[in-house]
Amino acid sequence: MPAHAAPRPDHASRRAALRALLVEAGVDALLVTDLVNIRYLTGFTGSNAALVVDAWDGAEDRTLLCTDGRYITQVQLQVPDLRAEIARASAPRLVELAGEWKMGRLGFESHVVTVAQHQGFEGQATGLELAPVSGLVEQLRMVKDDYEIGRLRAACAAADAALAQLLERGSVRPGRTERQIARELEWLMFEHGADAVAFETIVAAGPNSAVPHHRPTDAVLAAGDFVKFDFGAVVGGYHSDMTRTVVLGEPAGWQREVYDLVAAAQRAGREALRPGAACAAVDAAARGVIDAAGRGDLFVHGLGHGVGLQIHEAPGVAKTATGTLLDGVAVTVEPGVYFPGRGGVRIEDTLVVREGGPELLTLTSKDLAVVG
Ligand code: GLY
Ligand code: MN
Ligand code: MN
Repeated sequence: MPAHAAPRPDHASRRAALRALLVEAGVDALLVTDLVNIRYLTGFTGSNAALVVDAWDGAEDRTLLCTDGRYITQVQLQVPDLRAEIARASAPRLVELAGEWKMGRLGFESHVVTVAQHQGFEGQATGLELAPVSGLVEQLRMVKDDYEIGRLRAACAAADAALAQLLERGSVRPGRTERQIARELEWLMFEHGADAVAFETIVAAGPNSAVPHHRPTDAVLAAGDFVKFDFGAVVGGYHSDMTRTVVLGEPAGWQREVYDLVAAAQRAGREALRPGAACAAVDAAARGVIDAAGRGDLFVHGLGHGVGLQIHEAPGVAKTATGTLLDGVAVTVEPGVYFPGRGGVRIEDTLVVREGGPELLTLTSKDLAVVG
């Protein structure tokens, strides 16, 4: 590849990696019905699709994408390298074709397919054995390639730039409402290159900052408030996720104390990120800091999650998580301590796990910002 060319997603390599997992799982082909997984494997972004990947066919003559008539042009543009079947009932049609092509044991995504859909497949599955499999494409999606990390960087940069501009121009001050600030922050993300917002933007002031997933209201910011921002941008399908908590005016003693505690826990979580680390151990590294300060009961959620084509994806980074980190996995680290009725702090970054230490993608300072 010439040095100046931007990397492109290599969908064929992703499908090849999936084939190896299909053989391990003991199926001859996989029916993919999750639209995000289909996007990951083919680049197709329409709202109706199904995909069959044959475990044994490296030439991909038997890899078939099905969508409906609305997407005839789009599928040709986005997926010129695969055969496209056009049918409204995309998944049942591919089950029918898989039967005609004698695919044998056909896996389906059992974490996605409803009971009703499964009953429909059974009606079409002449000569096939339908076999439930779960999480195979999600397993591949955990480790990001260079193209994906480039998009994640751009999404994080849009969020960083938006928050910097919001604070620089004095938009976070007593008298303004959570809702006004949330809309302005979102507008600024678009100005800085976002295609969409990653999730409902959280701006939570004063006592509302103690609600982890508060929805912005007409609550008016007042001097002395914590103001918590949890927000993200989407660029090229990839999501960023960042939380910062600022204080309006000089922090009170308890505010400084809780902020320093969450910052120390967040640092411990980031420092525990390395290939081979158990996700539960990363959670424990951060949670231990908060537990030791006697505030464990106020850290009421997991430490983080994978992030990519979805805002929340594998792996979970929590007490009960069973996974292990690998080089190239993108995750958040987001401890919080919340005093109900009073206020709370969360600090969240998006990072990529690397051998030499994690790459931080959200670059906004984590020093306590005194604003307004
Ligand atoms: N606001 C979504 C999250 O941080 O997970
Ligand atoms: Mn978040
Ligand atoms: Mn998050």
